[in-house]
Amino acid sequence: MTDLHVVDATSEHVADIVAVIHHAFAARRVLDPPSTALSENAATVGAAVEKHGGLLVLIDGAPAGAVLFEVEGEVLNLRRVSVDPRHQARGVASAMVGCAEEVAVRRGLARVRLVARVELPDTVEFWRRRGYSVVERQDHNLIHAKAMPIERTVPTAEDMRAIAAELAGQLRAGDVLVLSGDLGAGKTTFTQGLGAGLKVRGDITSPTFVISRVHPSLVGGPALVHVDAYRLGGFAELDDLDLDASLDDAVTVVEWGHGLAEALAPDRLDVVVTRGDDDTDETRQLRITPVGPRWAASGVRVSVLEKN
Ligand SMILES: Nc1ncnc2c1ncn2[C@@H]1O[C@H](COP(=O)(O)OP(=O)(O)OP(=O)(O)O)[C@@H](O)[C@H]1O
Ligand SMILES: [Mg+2]
Repeated sequence: MTDLHVVDATSEHVADIVAVIHHAFAARRVLDPPSTALSENAATVGAAVEKHGGLLVLIDGAPAGAVLFEVEGEVLNLRRVSVDPRHQARGVASAMVGCAEEVAVRRGLARVRLVARVELPDTVEFWRRRGYSVVERQDHNLIHAKAMPIERTVPTAEDMRAIAAELAGQLRAGDVLVLSGDLGAGKTTFTQGLGAGLKVRGDITSPTFVISRVHPSLVGGPALVHVDAYRLGGFAELDDLDLDASLDDAVTVVEWGHGLAEALAPDRLDVVVTRGDDDTDETRQLRITPVGPRWAASGVRVSVLEKN
């Protein structure tokens, strides 16, 4: 078995990182204009590591992959994503990207971004499979981005509503949220916060006897369509609701939509609410995962309960 380690880059790793970058980029076919990666040296990499950090991947102790970070506002840019060709197809790049995303989440950054050359379809495909979207094209460069998930420990129902209300300010017509979590986890409570933030009419309750309910805006904004998919038999029935008709002009929330609503919405926020085993404990775990190009372009921000 190979032993693969990803370590936070420090000054002592600079020589190894330079070597990995050179091996990786020298093995690529020469592009026009060529990459500037081969001009990286101990001074440039040392400065980058010192300022923003990076990662080094070791396989059986030998340097196999590297990436440099650059923080720009609330974005983590990945630079010089490199895998030594002698260590290709061993999961080096995947492990590195996974760790880079963890770093972004830990630092509270909303998005990860990188540049891939349009001439390298395998590279472009690699990023697509990992959930990155092309948000911009500049000549030969495809700017890829992915919005990072948000996690919160939520002590009370009021906090849950406050988070959703803040999120509502970033929503627009056409957006879809897929809510999952056990019975009584807090999906409807979360939706109430959305309704308050969007300023829509009507109390938001569990739509037990109706499958979907439309709450029109009181302020000329998008309506909130609240769907309870719990009783739906499957995708065919969800499709029968003809939600497509309203998706474009409303914010649509599907409770219990997990595994059902995804096909409706390549762009969506997956919201998962979980509760502990202890029924007397009101604390919930909340995870909001943005999916698709819509969110790759903007990211998601939640300031409520930011540091817990
Ligand atoms: N931290 C919390 N976050 C959310 N709800 C909480 C929290 N603490 C307590 N609650 C309470 O838990 C209940 C959650 O019920 P809710 O109807 O929102 O769940 P649900 O996930 O929609 O359930 P269902 O599967 O029946 O649709 C509410 O009574 C709410 O006040
Ligand atoms: Mg509910």
